[in-house]
Amino acid sequence: MPYREQIPIDKGIDNTAKLLLEGYNYITNRRKKYGRDIFETRILGGQKAICIAGEEAVKTFYDEEKLIRHGAAPKRVRQTLFGEHAVQTMDGDKHRHRKELFMSLMSKERLEDLRKLLESQIEITLAKWTTQHKVVIYKEMVQVLTMVACVWSGIPLEENEVEKRANQLEALFDSVGAIGPRHWKGRTSRNLAEAWLRAMVAQVRSGEINPPNETALYKMSWYQDKNGKLLNEQIVAVELLNIIRPIVAVSVYITFEALALHEHPKEKEKLQQKGEEYAELFIQEVRRYYPFFPVLTAKVREDFLWNGHDFKKGNLVLLDIYGTNHHPDIWEKPHLFHPERFKNREENFYDFIPQGGGDYYRGHRCPGEWLTIEVMKVVLNFLVNNIEYIVPKQDLQYSMVRFPSLPKSRFVISDVKRRS
Ligand code: HEM
Repeated sequence: MPYREQIPIDKGIDNTAKLLLEGYNYITNRRKKYGRDIFETRILGGQKAICIAGEEAVKTFYDEEKLIRHGAAPKRVRQTLFGEHAVQTMDGDKHRHRKELFMSLMSKERLEDLRKLLESQIEITLAKWTTQHKVVIYKEMVQVLTMVACVWSGIPLEENEVEKRANQLEALFDSVGAIGPRHWKGRTSRNLAEAWLRAMVAQVRSGEINPPNETALYKMSWYQDKNGKLLNEQIVAVELLNIIRPIVAVSVYITFEALALHEHPKEKEKLQQKGEEYAELFIQEVRRYYPFFPVLTAKVREDFLWNGHDFKKGNLVLLDIYGTNHHPDIWEKPHLFHPERFKNREENFYDFIPQGGGDYYRGHRCPGEWLTIEVMKVVLNFLVNNIEYIVPKQDLQYSMVRFPSLPKSRFVISDVKRRS
């Protein structure tokens, strides 16, 4: 007889309020209390959900024989962050085919194009920063990355439109964990941004605009699904947003990079002395240490047994991203910011998951991970080696219950000067 046992249960008919109140720590708090990497809860209108964390949990979560994504993401996430019928909600061959499209945008050459675009945009922005008394890093990066994301994707964007589109793109990821006006702003922004891109896809197809062949706008407009059919304009708009929205969201990590440099002045010296190799360790640690994505959701495909528990078809499963990146079985002193921990670390697709785990092509792991690291590298080099600045007194605390979390002040710098 296979081994079975009753897993701990977080009692209550609906624990959504607790989840919102404890945010990034909801699963970790219960893992500590129960001494187990698995427990049952009820959320989102009383639905049964199994919460899991740790390396073995990640392996199970990314086993597509066991779990699927269709129907797993809450409606409010689809209405803001993902959009409807996006790659995140697909499974099997159809998902793999669509995922190829995303991965085809991440070639070495295309990442190099992005690096160059970002470097020149930052140069232009620096000229402005040196004339301003104060600069809010997060807000500035949202605008810079909106411009870079659009140019890189072949999406025409007039200068006087940048602020409007930057606000819309930011609202898509800033609204997902919110209720009330912040959430509604996200939904309205999604409608506006989708309409903008739908019209653009129509123009590409009618020959009115001709984006370069290697760009997302071109590739997605002419992409054929498994049956050789073009996607409808609405879905192309959703998937284009799946490229430009997360590029803008890298502003969150950049803000945490700036915070890490400020909180750990010795790290700045090491970065200046040790160059790119150390920068890579530092960036990995920023992505591990600071909170960004809290959890992922999937549904059980068919009944299976794991860790003594019967997972029943249709049950919701929550994988703890933040908790796995701070799991004491994987990380020594997980709450210490220590980039050297990544030195000589063997690559493992299941224990370090800030942007998901498993295989890029077969599963749902983030196709933008290399791009994210490249963007973080360019900006880190700029902050460490190209400019000098003062960090004035401000509220740098970041919340463990707001998604996405950000330093309250959004990281203000002043007296920016180019380093000689
Ligand atoms: C800002 C930093 C980023 C973070 C923290 C992040 C995080 C994630 C996470 C946690 C997932 C879910 C993985 C899963 O479901 O198993 C994901 C998926 C995805 N990400 Fe990212 N991401 C980032 C940047 C990017 C960038 C720059 C792009 C594109 C240029 C991108 C495009 C996507 C897409 C399309 C998916 C869905 C993949 C699929 O379902 O197969 N992300 N990301």
